[in-house]
Amino acid sequence: MTSRYDEVYRRWQRAPLEHWAEAAEAVTWFKRWDRLLDDSRAPFYRWFVGAEVNSCYNALDRHVEAGHGAQAALIYDSPVTRTVRKLSYAELQKEVATAAGMLKALGVEKGDRVILYMPMVPETAVAMLACARIGAIHSVVFGGFAPRELATRIDDAKPKLMIAASCGIEPGRVIAYKPLLDGAIELARHKPQACILLQRPMEEAELIKGRDHDWHELMAKARPADVVPVAATDPLYVLYTSGTTGKPKGVVRDNGGHLVALSWSMPNIYGVAPGECWWAASDVGWVVGHSYIVYGPLFHRTQSILFEGKPVGTPDAGVYWRVIAEHGCVAMFTAPTAFRAIKREDPNGVLVQNHDLARFRTLFLAGERADPDTVKWAEDKLKRPVIDHWWQTESGWPMAANCVGLGQLPVKYGSPTKAVPGYDIRVVDEACRELASGRTGAIVVKLPLPPGSLPTLWQNDQGFLDSYMTDSPGFYKTADAGYQDADGYLYVMSRTDDIINVAGHRLSTGAMEEVLSGHPDVAECAVIGVADPLKGQVPLGFAVLKAGVNRPPGEIVGELVARVRQEIGPVAAFRTCTLVARLPKTRSGKILRGTMRRIADAQDYAMPATIDDPAILPEIESALRAVGYARK
Ligand code: COA
Ligand code: AMP
Repeated sequence: MTSRYDEVYRRWQRAPLEHWAEAAEAVTWFKRWDRLLDDSRAPFYRWFVGAEVNSCYNALDRHVEAGHGAQAALIYDSPVTRTVRKLSYAELQKEVATAAGMLKALGVEKGDRVILYMPMVPETAVAMLACARIGAIHSVVFGGFAPRELATRIDDAKPKLMIAASCGIEPGRVIAYKPLLDGAIELARHKPQACILLQRPMEEAELIKGRDHDWHELMAKARPADVVPVAATDPLYVLYTSGTTGKPKGVVRDNGGHLVALSWSMPNIYGVAPGECWWAASDVGWVVGHSYIVYGPLFHRTQSILFEGKPVGTPDAGVYWRVIAEHGCVAMFTAPTAFRAIKREDPNGVLVQNHDLARFRTLFLAGERADPDTVKWAEDKLKRPVIDHWWQTESGWPMAANCVGLGQLPVKYGSPTKAVPGYDIRVVDEACRELASGRTGAIVVKLPLPPGSLPTLWQNDQGFLDSYMTDSPGFYKTADAGYQDADGYLYVMSRTDDIINVAGHRLSTGAMEEVLSGHPDVAECAVIGVADPLKGQVPLGFAVLKAGVNRPPGEIVGELVARVRQEIGPVAAFRTCTLVARLPKTRSGKILRGTMRRIADAQDYAMPATIDDPAILPEIESALRAVGYARK
């Protein structure tokens, strides 16, 4: 099949509004828009202004009304609890309507925020859709974050209600969520009116009288709630993501643009048809989970797998193949780190042979740079196209991809291929001058961003301007760096800020530095991301102690590691920290993190012209060698 990509991209360039008006036909609107794009307050763009819609109705009710109620909607596959549970569109609609009634009974109304702190169970998707049904705004917080991170989000979103499970399950251990929830509420200045607890049999939580309610008890007496029409521009959810400070950014997603963009992406990017089975092996706490476990597949009436497990160890490195075969999955999406984990356990792909993958067509990778070795390994073992694609929490859906649904373009290893129709991607220098192909610079996107991308940050228009719109006026700053080749293929190489990518999870080293510098013995510190064969990157800390501190170094390092785990969470994977006498700096006092990273990764480095004292670098090198990094 020859690809229609170029034709569709050019057509979008010529007539973007027509492109989106056509895409909007996939959505059931209660009232159509007055204006497709309102650019009167640029760079605050608004899509489908005047339209009324409901995301839950588009995900569930309309499919049931059209006679597809019996089709599987969600397939909960949980090797950690040995459960497989299928919910049809009709069953999910009934459960979501009841949950919406439960929320209403607790006083939740359109525009109220509800924070979810939940593991990968169907009730998480039910709660999200229940919020959408009544126009409440959900904010899901990933379970691997610690109470302090949850508290920050509570204070920013000011939820009326919180929904949590009693526990999550990690391989070999049960993690009680209730103490984390209680700890977060105690730390937060804002106090939610009520909490709903989903009791899981592996670890039941004690409820606080007057504040906490039992999910099952409330559901048993709740009356189903109707769909509430909302404005296309009303927020559907807020999802917090790491920014360059300890304070996460609340990315806002609207209803209308999100519906249109995700509905377009399912057939055109992922090449998946209604009724087919699709699997995004991520977590609902991340944007991939929002867009491609819950909303995208349900808008498009596919079967979506919700997987509670890991690529290895639940029970082995063959679990992905078992799930694909058992449910007849046609395409899956995960992060390269998951494939590196599988490759490490089963390098020859022996376990792939045990399963019938006849229906499986495509593997999609995103969340971090897809290293060519991993892509080639997956291609070789699966004998299927392996498609890297690039996006962010902010965009909500792919910005660069090989749009398989439009006909696959040739794969170039190390590249997520080309700009998706809707995105005009450029590479620029510090003065925002466009760079020639092959030259590395900041990756920016010409405004307006397409439907589905963030319209602003939660109650923080100024933060939106400062973070994304100021450095390159007229463009959105992705904070990624890379280049485009002469064929227009994009190569995303690194971040331009302090964000690192740990096992596909986006984390701020700045936030970790804030935690380290809070230790009473630490005078100053730095955290950098160093290369890791499994997780892509892991954080590594340096601390300079205050004069006169003479406690055992191992004890202090242990406290620093524990502190990051307690304050940010296990997801940060902060395990290594080294004590040094001083940090390398420029003459103006800026810590030379880039040089430290190159030394740690055993790469060549040039002595920075601005370095204050070159003699510090050998000290750093030997400190790094002592913890297993730098040239041996
Ligand atoms: N609740 C509580 N703790 C959690 C958690 C959750 N939802 N998710 C992860 N954690 C904990 C883990 O138990 C682990 O704790 P530990 O330090 O005590 O071992 C820590 O956070 C780090 O977890 P993780 O990043 O999952 O690393 P891992 O070493 O357990 O597993 C992989 C490595 C590669 C197998 C795993 O990261 C993975 O499956 N990644 C898939 C990619 C993905 O989901 N990406 C999301 C974007 S698409
Ligand atoms: P998140 O917001 O958590 O989805 O993280 C987004 C960031 O992950 C991007 O800004 C990139 O730095 C990185 N990323 C995501 N996908 C890719 C990819 N395909 N190639 C390179 N980097 C990626």
